[in-house]
Amino acid sequence: MMGSKVQVFLLVISIQILLVAAQSSEDFAVLKSLKDVWDNTPPNWEGPDPCGNSWVGIRCNNSRVTAITLASIGLTGKLSGDLSSLSELQTLDLSYNKGMTGPLPASIGSLKKLTNLILVGCSFSGQIPSTIGSLQQLLILSLNSNSFSGSIPPEIGYLSSLYWLDLADNKLSGRIPVSDGTTPGLDMLVNTKHFHFGKNQLSGTIPPKLFSPNMSLIHVYTCKEFAQPYSKNKQLFENNNLNGSIPLTLGLVQSLEVLRLDRNLLTGPVPSNLNNLVHVNELILSNNQLSGSFPNLTGMNVLNYVDMSNNTFDESEIPSWFSTLQPLTTLKMESTRLKGQVPVSLFSLPLLQTVVLRNNQLNGTLDVGSSYSDQLQLIDFQNNLIVAYTERAGFKNKLILAGNPICQETVETKTYCAIQQSNPTQYSTPEKNCVPSSCSINQTSSPNCVCAYPYTGDLYFRAPSFSNLGNSSIYTSLEDSLMHSFQSHQLPVDTVSLSNPTKNADDYLVLRLEAFPSGEDRFNRTGIPAVGFVLSNQTFKPPHTFGPFYFIADSYGYFAESAGHRKSSNTGIIIGAAAGGSVLLLLALLVGIYSFRQKRRAEIADKQNNPFAAWDPRKDSGDVPQLKGARSFSFEELKKCTNNFSDANVIGSGGYGKVYKGVLHSGQLVAVKRAQRGSMQGGLEFKSEIEMLSRVHHKNVVSLVGFCFEHDDQMLVYEYIPNGTLKESLSGKSGVQLDWTRRLRIALGAARGLQYLHELANPPIIHRDIKSNNILLDERLTAKVADFGLSKLMGDPEKGHVTTQVKGTMGYMDPEYYMTQQLTNKSDIYSFGVVMLELVTARQPIEKGKYIVREVKQYMDKTKLLYNLQEILDPSILVTPLKGLEKFVDLALSCVEDAGAERPPIGDVVKEIENIMQIAGLNPNADSASASSSYEAVKGYNHPYSNESLFVYSGAFPPSNIDPQ
Ligand SMILES: *[C@@H]1O[C@H](CO)[C@@H](O)[C@H](O)[C@H]1NC(C)=O
Ligand SMILES: *[C@@H]1O[C@H](CO)[C@@H](O)[C@H](O)[C@H]1NC(C)=O
Ligand SMILES: *[C@@H]1O[C@H](CO)[C@@H](O)[C@H](O)[C@H]1NC(C)=O
Ligand SMILES: *[C@@H]1O[C@H](CO)[C@@H](O)[C@H](O)[C@H]1NC(C)=O
Repeated sequence: MMGSKVQVFLLVISIQILLVAAQSSEDFAVLKSLKDVWDNTPPNWEGPDPCGNSWVGIRCNNSRVTAITLASIGLTGKLSGDLSSLSELQTLDLSYNKGMTGPLPASIGSLKKLTNLILVGCSFSGQIPSTIGSLQQLLILSLNSNSFSGSIPPEIGYLSSLYWLDLADNKLSGRIPVSDGTTPGLDMLVNTKHFHFGKNQLSGTIPPKLFSPNMSLIHVYTCKEFAQPYSKNKQLFENNNLNGSIPLTLGLVQSLEVLRLDRNLLTGPVPSNLNNLVHVNELILSNNQLSGSFPNLTGMNVLNYVDMSNNTFDESEIPSWFSTLQPLTTLKMESTRLKGQVPVSLFSLPLLQTVVLRNNQLNGTLDVGSSYSDQLQLIDFQNNLIVAYTERAGFKNKLILAGNPICQETVETKTYCAIQQSNPTQYSTPEKNCVPSSCSINQTSSPNCVCAYPYTGDLYFRAPSFSNLGNSSIYTSLEDSLMHSFQSHQLPVDTVSLSNPTKNADDYLVLRLEAFPSGEDRFNRTGIPAVGFVLSNQTFKPPHTFGPFYFIADSYGYFAESAGHRKSSNTGIIIGAAAGGSVLLLLALLVGIYSFRQKRRAEIADKQNNPFAAWDPRKDSGDVPQLKGARSFSFEELKKCTNNFSDANVIGSGGYGKVYKGVLHSGQLVAVKRAQRGSMQGGLEFKSEIEMLSRVHHKNVVSLVGFCFEHDDQMLVYEYIPNGTLKESLSGKSGVQLDWTRRLRIALGAARGLQYLHELANPPIIHRDIKSNNILLDERLTAKVADFGLSKLMGDPEKGHVTTQVKGTMGYMDPEYYMTQQLTNKSDIYSFGVVMLELVTARQPIEKGKYIVREVKQYMDKTKLLYNLQEILDPSILVTPLKGLEKFVDLALSCVEDAGAERPPIGDVVKEIENIMQIAGLNPNADSASASSSYEAVKGYNHPYSNESLFVYSGAFPPSNIDPQ
C-alpha cells in the first residue's frame, strides 16, 4: 500500500517535472521562433536556455518566461501567434520599435497571466482583437501611437482590474462602446483611472452611460476628432440623429481631475452640474460648438487651467465668480462672445500666469489693478473694443491690445499695440558646475560635461496645470523626479537633460529628454529596454503639476556590440541553394518594384504637401501657367539675400510675420514677406494667392517678384519700394515732405491702382484693406497699392459681392460690410474715402477717440473758404494755395456714404481727381516727380522736388498764422 502510494507520488512528481521541462522548452521554442521572424534581436539571444543564460530583455521565474521587455532596440517584424504559448508571461513591452508591424494576433487572449501589455509608439495596425477581453489580470493596456483601426472592442469592458487604458493616437473609428445588458462596454471599467482615447476618429455621441458615480476615473481625454467632421458627412449626422452634447452624467464622476473634450464637434449646452466636479484641475472644452449660457464653474475651487475658447456660448459678461477660482494659472476664452468691462479683480488671482481673452467684445478701460499676480506672463486681449488702458507702474509683462480701438490712436508708440511674436521658451538643463566638453560627432556633452551617446525622445504631458513655460524651477523638479525614478530601479543613468519646452498643436507640453549613460559613453542592450520600460510602463510618475504623460523614444543606434541577429542570412542561403539565380533575379525585381513604389509614394506625399512639387519654374513649363512672371526662390537664396533674415533687415512686421529687405543676385532690391508659424496658409491657399498676385501688373500696384515655398516656409518676394508707406510720410516719420500737389498725385496714383484691381484685373480683386499703411511711395513718390494678404477674388461678377468673415482695419472699415458681411468693391471705396481725408488732415482715422469722418463733417461749413476746415487740415499743406481742396473733400465724403450704392465707382473717383488736378494747374498724366530718381529726403532741406511747390514745410506753423490764399 505504502509502496504504491510512494510510486504514485513519484510518478506525479516526475510527470510534473517533465511537464515543467516540456513547458520551459516550449518557451524556448517560442523565443527561438520569434528570433527567427524578428530582426535586430539582442546578440546574446544564443544558447538553449533563455532563462539560465539571462537573454537580454527576458525575465523568468522557475524556468518560465514571465517578462519580455524590448523597448527601443530597433526590433523589426511581426507579432506571431506563437507568443500565446508563453502561458506564464506577465509583461510584454515592445514599445518604441517603429519596425514592429502587422496586427495584434487574436491568440494574445491566451496569455491569461498578462498584466502589462505595452506597445507604445510602434507601427502595429489592424483591429484590436476582441480576445483582449480575456486578459482578466491586465492592469496596463497601452496601445497608443500605433496605427490600430476599426472600432474599440466592447470586450475591453471585461478588463475589470484595468488601471490604465491608453488607445490614443491611432486610427480607431466608430462609437464608444457601452454595455446594454447583453454586450459589454467601457462603462464597466469602474476601476480604470486613466482613459486616453484622444487623437482618433471616433464618432457618435459620448454615451451618457459611460459615466457613473462609482467610477474612479480621473482623466478623460477625447480630444481631436472624437466625431467625424459633419461638413464631410452630413448624411451620417442626420441619419443617425446624433445630438453630440456632453452627457449630464459626466457631472457624476466626482473623482475626475482632468477633463479634455476639446477639438471635437460637441454641441448644445454644457451640463449645469459640471461644477459638481470639484476635483478637476484642468478643464479644456475649447474648439467645439458648445452653446447656451456660459458654463458656471462656481465651486470648482482647485481649477488651475481653463480653456473654453472657440465656442458659441450666449453673450455674457466675464462672470464675477472667475475671481473666486484662487488656484487659476491659465484662463483662455478666446472667441467666446464675452462683452463688457474686464473686472480688475481678475488679475489679482495669486497664481495667474496667462489670460487670453482675444476676439471678444470686451470694452471700456483695461486695468490690471495694483495687486496683479506677480506670475503674470501674458495678457492677450487682441481684437476687443477696449478704448483705454490704465498703465500701472512696474507692470512689465506682455500685454497685447492690437485690434482694439485704443490702438487706432497709439499704434505707433505703444508696444502693446504691436502684435508681438511669441518667442519660443528657451530652456535646457544647465551644466552642473562644469564646462561643456566638445564632443565628437553624434556624441553630446551631458550636464556633467561628459561626452556620451544619450538615449533620447520626447515627453508629452497631456494636461500640465501651468502655462508659463519659462519658469526653470519646474523643469528642475522634473529632472529630479526622473533621476529618482531611474536610480531607484538601479538603472545605468548618470544624468538627464531636458530641453525645448513647447506646446504642440494638441495643446500638449512637449519636452526633449536626453538620458545619459553612467560609466560608459553608451548604453548597452540591457540598459536601453530597461530605461525605456520605466517610461513606457508609467513607472515614472512626474510631479503632479505636469499631469499624465507619455513618452516616444528615438531608436537608439549606438550599442557597442555588433548588430543583432538577422534572419535574412539563413533564409537567403536556403532559398539561394534551392532555386539558384532565378530567385535572385525575382528578388531583384521585387526590390526594384518596391523601391519604385516607395519613390512614387514619396512623390505623392510630397505633392500633397507642396502644390508646386510638380512644377519646375526653371523650365517655365505649362504646368502652372498662371505663375508666369513670378519666380520661385529657394529658401537658401532668400536666406542669403536677407543676410540670414537678420533683424537689421526687418522693414516691417505684423500679424502675418516680418518683412525683410533683401538684395537679389542681380542687384535688385526686394522686400521679402515671411509668414511666421501660425499665420501660414495651407499650400493651396498660398498657391492661389501667388497666382493672383503674379497676374497683377500695374504701375500703381506693388508687383510680385517671386515666392518661396519650402522648408515649411512661405515667403512672398515683392519689389522694394524705397520711400515707405503713405502713413509714415503723413506722420513726418519718413522725412518725405508731402505738399498739396504731391498729395493729389498720390491720391490719383492710388485710385488708379485700385481701378486696375476693380476693373481691369481678371478676375477682379477687392482689396479689403485699403489704408495709408498699404499705399507705398517709390523713389519718384509714385503711389503703389500694396498688401493683398486679405484680397478676395470676386468669384461671380454678376453677383457683385462675396460673403466673408469680416476682415480689415478699424477706422477704414466699411460699416455696411461690417454689418452685412457682404464684401463689394464699394467697401474699398469707403476705405479710400478715409485715406483721402487722411491726406488732407494727416490725422489717423480714429485719433483720441474721434473718428475722422465725423470730425470733418462737424467742422465743415460749405459757405466758408476751404469749407472752414483749417483747424483740422494738416498744417503742413496750409502753407500753399489749396486749389481744389473743396472738391477733394466733397469727393472723399461721397466715398464714405453709409450706403455702398451711393458711393461712386472707382472709375468716377479717378476722373474726379484728374479734374481736381486740372483745377490745381497740374497735368494728371505727367509723371509724379521730375526725372531724378535718387531722392534723398532730409527734413528741412530743399530736395529735388521742392521747386514743385512754393514752400516746403519744415517746422510747426500754427495754422492761424497762415493765410492760405
Ligand atoms: C453658479 O452656481 C452657483 C452654485 O451652484 C450659484 O450659487 C450661482 O448663483 C450660479 N451663478 C450663476 C451666474 O448662475
Ligand atoms: C481658436 O480658433 C482659432 C482659429 O481656428 C485658432 O487659431 C486658435 O488657436 C483657437 N484657440 C484655441 C485656444 O484653441
Ligand atoms: C460695454 O458693453 C456693455 C455691454 O455690451 C454695455 O452695456 C456698455 O454700455 C459698454 N460700455 C461702454 C463704455 O461702451
Ligand atoms: C551620426 O548621425 C548621423 C545622422 O544624424 C548618422 O547618419 C550617422 O550614421 C551617425 N554616425 C554614427 C557613427 O552613428
